[in-house]
Amino acid sequence: GTVLVLNGPNLNLLGTREPGVYGNTTLADVQELATQTAHSLGFGTHFIQSNHEGDLVDAIHGAQNSAVGIVINAGAYTHTSVAIRDALAAVGLPTVEVHISNVHQREEFRHYSYLSAVADAVIVGAGVHGYELAIRYLGRTLPQ
Ligand code: DQA
Repeated sequence: GTVLVLNGPNLNLLGTREPGVYGNTTLADVQELATQTAHSLGFGTHFIQSNHEGDLVDAIHGAQNSAVGIVINAGAYTHTSVAIRDALAAVGLPTVEVHISNVHQREEFRHYSYLSAVADAVIVGAGVHGYELAIRYLGRTLPQ
């Protein structure tokens, strides 16, 4: 099966964006890392990044018939988007929420996630390694 790895706004700038917070790894590096991990577990990956909320909703809908699980870093939409939460709830696929930074050490407005209540697991503050951990989690819970 295929794991949908979904990245939200500004994550296309990973590697150059606030490197003190998010590190120097690019999203292309993350894609390679996540894909290698997935392949080692017998899964494929489908990578989507968008800066647009509705595109992320559409990608989640698309996963219903094409993916066995979802890894999502919704970026700032994490803290604002009822629409993304509702989309995840609607498709009901096993879902892992990832944040590169430890959002709980940061501004108050980053402490609440609309998505966590509909995620099976949440990985926060592990850096880009969090994507790999998320795929390993799905690998343990999903049939190939
Ligand atoms: C983030 C944390 C969010 O608060 C922020 O808006 C992001 C990235 C993270 O991966 O640490 O864009 O999701």
